[in-house]
Amino acid sequence: MEGYDQFKEKIFAKTKLDLSLYKERQMKRRIESLISRHGLQDFESYFQLMNRDKDVYDEFVNYLTINVSEFYRNPAQWEMLRSEVFPAILKRTKRPKIWSAACSTGEEPYSLVMCLSEFLPLRDIKILAVDFDSEALNKAQIGMYNEKSIKNVPPAYVERFFEPVGKGYRIKDDVKNCVEFKKMNLLRDDYPKGFDLVVCRNVMIYFTEEAKDEMYRKFYESLSPDSYFFVGSTEQIIQPQRYKFESNRTFFYYKK
Ligand SMILES: C[S@@+](CC[C@H](N)C(=O)[O-])C[C@H]1O[C@@H](n2cnc3c(N)ncnc32)[C@H](O)[C@@H]1O
Repeated sequence: MEGYDQFKEKIFAKTKLDLSLYKERQMKRRIESLISRHGLQDFESYFQLMNRDKDVYDEFVNYLTINVSEFYRNPAQWEMLRSEVFPAILKRTKRPKIWSAACSTGEEPYSLVMCLSEFLPLRDIKILAVDFDSEALNKAQIGMYNEKSIKNVPPAYVERFFEPVGKGYRIKDDVKNCVEFKKMNLLRDDYPKGFDLVVCRNVMIYFTEEAKDEMYRKFYESLSPDSYFFVGSTEQIIQPQRYKFESNRTFFYYKK
């Protein structure tokens, strides 16, 4: 399909989302399939439709940001977090600063709260959770989930932290109150600082090498000394020492 370069420029002007920092082939293919779904033939007419119809625009952002998530995604890594990484962090501070970067619909930050609740009272838990997609953030704040997304949650935690609503489960307010949700573009905005744990999982895979390179440097700067960076199960960092990270446990990197 014609006109992708101009489309990227217009999307940047409209949303500040720089599509050229996402892997091109994958991103272009996804947008083309969305355009075809609307019965259109080219990027320009799709952009115009998006400008006329807010629902089409919201659908676009929602579709290309790929919100798939679940509680305790890759449970073995969460077990490592629970049994080794949190105890190490909590030796140093009883009020850890934690950042879930690209939190999607909330499963990740709420899992962090549940996991930490083994060590701390809920009132001492504060997680910053950011995402670019406002619709995902709205869903996170509503906190309704289906059976499938909670399949890895220990039954005792389902009992304690969720209330059944119809066929689904709503996360309880005392867990919600531990999380501050914010809209943020990880490719552009300034990164907050002073964290003991940064969790950024299953989003870097969509970015170009150049974009990732810069993000690793920024995440490193976001961490306090003696702290950890937790990545997704296909996102191991090649040569972490380039970013001054030490490879600590699989999928966890350490800042000295
Ligand atoms: C597949 S989800 C990952 C959710 C969660 N971290 C997990 O591992 O289950 C990817 C998320 O990245 C977000 N995202 C994509 N580009 C982004 C950007 N430039 N800034 C912030 N979030 C972004 C999407 O909106 C989406 O919610």
